[in-house]
Amino acid sequence: MNFSEIHNWLRESDDRRLEKLWRTADDVRRRNVGDEVHLRGLTEFSNHCVRRCAYCGLGAHNSGLEHYRMNADEILACAGRAVELGYGTIVLQSGQDSGVSGQWLADVIERIRRQTPLAVTLGVGERNAEEFALWRQAGADRYLLRFETSDRALYERIHPDLDGVRSDRIAILHQLRELGYEGGSGVMIGLPGQTYETLARDIELFGELDLDMIGSGPFIPSPHTPSARSDEKQVPNSEIMSYKVIALTRIICPQANIPATTAVATLNGQAGYELGLQRGANVIMPNITPPRYRALYDIYPAKAGVEQDEDYHSLLKERILAIGRRVGAGRGDSPNYINRRHANKEAATCAR
Ligand code: 5AD
Repeated sequence: MNFSEIHNWLRESDDRRLEKLWRTADDVRRRNVGDEVHLRGLTEFSNHCVRRCAYCGLGAHNSGLEHYRMNADEILACAGRAVELGYGTIVLQSGQDSGVSGQWLADVIERIRRQTPLAVTLGVGERNAEEFALWRQAGADRYLLRFETSDRALYERIHPDLDGVRSDRIAILHQLRELGYEGGSGVMIGLPGQTYETLARDIELFGELDLDMIGSGPFIPSPHTPSARSDEKQVPNSEIMSYKVIALTRIICPQANIPATTAVATLNGQAGYELGLQRGANVIMPNITPPRYRALYDIYPAKAGVEQDEDYHSLLKERILAIGRRVGAGRGDSPNYINRRHANKEAATCAR
């Protein structure tokens, strides 16, 4: 599918024609990553953040936010919970927290890898090359860093420099790949200033970057942030647009792991997850952050999962089965990554 086809689908409003997009995406999903839905235990371990991204409620704009940082034992308890729930992966997510040292996080990763069979995914922002290497050595498997938009001018407007250093997430994604991480990225849908052309280019770029994981979700205005006050034109930040992005992403990156994200569920609850899974997605990231911290991870208002109760996890599994899918067993590595590693090994053997 080329740029103009992606672009046309993003503008498509005829339900009958969209059915064709959903069917194609679902078919590509089934043939490439199968019927398993992988569950990732999302642990939001710190809401401190040194950045001032224009859209995010954790940033320094939100001066009223109460801050927390979980300690290592609390994080290990979450890992234990993920194992208990039968999940294959723990996702350690935080703001870009200068109070989290490279060594401290490396120790946490090492403990999780020693004590559990879990794969470890990190999403802790734009850190430096030594830290990425240290964490990889400690056993981290995957790294998530959304590039948010492919429009460089828009990107720079919403990501202020930190200590005079320009933010360049595409460059970081290349570094992570070199270090052997499974690399994940994504964008927000309906960000002020984002055009249909930009969003089509975002999706095209997912393919060019050969990403292993791609998570995108609707922009949800967060009070106290500049983006919430913006009157720039934008692609609709709607549920249907989010499914279009999921479906097109699946078609462009057939072997990637693609979640139905929390932001989609924020627009339409559990049904948002299910429709996402039926339109290209194969991953869900249930929130396992201890309830007392969960509401404080305030990226945007009314985030799904904050109110979830005890039987949430068993219900989730039932609903996955009810739509004819299976709950993934094991780590659920991305086939895109497995094949790349395999190809690299073959190439190395041939060279010898
Ligand atoms: N609406 C939707 N998504 C947001 N994110 C941050 N702020 C918002 C918002 N207001 C997303 C960004 C970030 C991810 C962790 O959360 O894409 O990469």
